[in-house]
Amino acid sequence: MKVGIYPGSFDPVTKGHLDIIERSSKMVDRLIVAVLNNNAKSPLFSVKERVNMLKEVTKEIDNVVIDSFSGLLVDYAEKNHANIIVRGLRAVTDFEYELQMAQTNRIMDNNVDTIFLTTSLQYAYLSSSIVKEVAINNGDVSKFVPEYVVEQIQKKLNIS
Ligand code: COA
Repeated sequence: MKVGIYPGSFDPVTKGHLDIIERSSKMVDRLIVAVLNNNAKSPLFSVKERVNMLKEVTKEIDNVVIDSFSGLLVDYAEKNHANIIVRGLRAVTDFEYELQMAQTNRIMDNNVDTIFLTTSLQYAYLSSSIVKEVAINNGDVSKFVPEYVVEQIQKKLNIS
């Protein structure tokens, strides 16, 4: 059984992430979307809320499982018998950081390989921070995040 992990902060999940989830789920038997439990980025949503949003927006995809983790990604991968890490590459600016992570992970555990999907063009500029910035300034984020996430952002920020 081929198990892949798509790790990230997902604060919140965007249509760009969803695009990667949909495409990579077709390449593996099971895709674990794993939310990093790390407060370094001062998240808007708790891990529980991020997991809940991911569950909601991926409920139609049978082989996708949502989870959270802390500690090293390679340890989490080993525990879950996963040897594929999925990452999306949006622009050349992602490349150096992604290469560094992929190589470090591979040195720590050579059973794990990272595969990169190029983000679909319409989402190449997207990030969760941009979505939050637009929302905080009362902008419409419905082009960037699924409808359910729009509602959760509005609830969180007390806007309608
Ligand atoms: N569409 C839209 N946005 C995307 C995207 C896509 N396809 N791919 C990435 N992004 C955005 C995210 O929204 C995020 O935006 P933000 O900074 O505004 O929040 C940004 O790109 C990068 O975030 P993310 O993909 O969530 O990665 P990360 O850098 O927060 O975390 C981990 C990456 C979780 C894989 C990494 O930190 C990790 O493995 N940590 C565990 C500890 C460990 O093992 N460390 C050693 C690894 S070398």
